[in-house]
Amino acid sequence: MARYVITGGNRLEGTVTISGAKNAAVAILPAAILVKGKCRVENVPDISDVRIMLRILADLGAKIEYEAPSTIILDCTDIHSSCPNPEYVRKMRASYYLMGALLSRFHEAHVALPGGCNFAARPIDQHIKGFAALGADVDETEDYVNLKPGPKGLQGAKISLDVVSVGATVNIIMAACLLPGKTVIENAAKEPHIVDLANFLNTMGAHISGAGTDTVKIYGVEELKGGSYAIIPDQIEAGTYLAAVAATGGNVLVQNIIPKHMECITSKLQEMGVQFIYYDDAVRVISDGRLQHTTVKTRPYPGFPTDMQSQICVCMSIAEGISRLTESVYETRFFGYCTELASMGADILISGKTAIISGRENLSGAVVRAHDLRAGAALVIAGLVAQGATEVENINFIERGYERLVEKMNALGADIKRLEK
Ligand code: EPZ
Repeated sequence: MARYVITGGNRLEGTVTISGAKNAAVAILPAAILVKGKCRVENVPDISDVRIMLRILADLGAKIEYEAPSTIILDCTDIHSSCPNPEYVRKMRASYYLMGALLSRFHEAHVALPGGCNFAARPIDQHIKGFAALGADVDETEDYVNLKPGPKGLQGAKISLDVVSVGATVNIIMAACLLPGKTVIENAAKEPHIVDLANFLNTMGAHISGAGTDTVKIYGVEELKGGSYAIIPDQIEAGTYLAAVAATGGNVLVQNIIPKHMECITSKLQEMGVQFIYYDDAVRVISDGRLQHTTVKTRPYPGFPTDMQSQICVCMSIAEGISRLTESVYETRFFGYCTELASMGADILISGKTAIISGRENLSGAVVRAHDLRAGAALVIAGLVAQGATEVENINFIERGYERLVEKMNALGADIKRLEK
């Protein structure tokens, strides 16, 4: 299995350019199923989750052209099947977006249950609740979700989510787009990638309002036509680089960001002593001297993102004093990386939903293993900080969501080698 060998201790200096948002791309690409015509999508990150989604779409009959390194022209006009290849569907979580997209386009879908990072129980009951409210007859087996019109047919409906769920919000938006009538999603998630999906669909002729608030309205339309769209920069990739510089010390210009999306992350790093200078589409991060402890509670957007939990935990593990990190989205997320960090010398006590982190002067290199995408990213940051060499195994998880991580980090002065075995 491929692994990273990281020699720690280098400050990070220079400029890094952020790629398109993974969690927007894996929603926007299947959303092209709703469009009869060519969708030209820019700023598509070259990561394995995107490559798998494109493979699924090509298997279904989509035509895909690569116009430039991160520009794809996707034409789903001739898609002929509502049953995506289960072998690929099971490789990632976002495959479940095919349910909503295929239901909207074909009024049926037969999709295997998704795979992806298993750092917590990740039910899809809210997605199913949405499909049923839209009039679908839902047949859930051990491995599949089969959708078809119920006795009254498919039409818009009012859906109040019991949990703020990004996936369910995205799936219901897609499912409702081409159905007759009005759909209202209450208690909707507000993440930037939901707004990006709604903007993409509206560019193609959909009629969606309220994305980014807790109430999203979708007025069904007959058909969506092709068009051009650019995916937003990845808030979590950018946050990962900010946390890396915070931990190693340094001075880096992080460009291709949306400042508003970063404030929930930079405000917490600022409390730890990190300085930021914001520009229109960039932020400079300056970190000198030892980080200070702080308290963080993860929350759905616009709160501190759960996907940044493991990265800020590394910063806390070398900060002066005792930090507290409380997880409010996925209770068991700590277990994906805290044991690994402890093997590098971190002092982390997990009590229920809260980790109490007693900062240490430094970490020591070790052989560690990524158990999910963001846990893996945190172990890379720990390796950049640690004295000596750190080997990170299972890097396939990391490369699901970070485009050219080694190249981008080494351009900033890191010393990471990618070894095939
Ligand atoms: C999305 O996952 C992201 N993945 C995750 O990012 C991210 O951690 C998460 O949103 C929260 O922001 C993608 O966008 C592909 P949820 P998702 O539905 O949609 C519960 C990464 O690292 N829930 O918002 O699966 C659920 O258990 C990945 O990029 C239900 O109870 O998350 C959780 O506690 C990891 N029933 C909470 O809601 C449901 O039907 C939030 O989950 C759905 C969710």
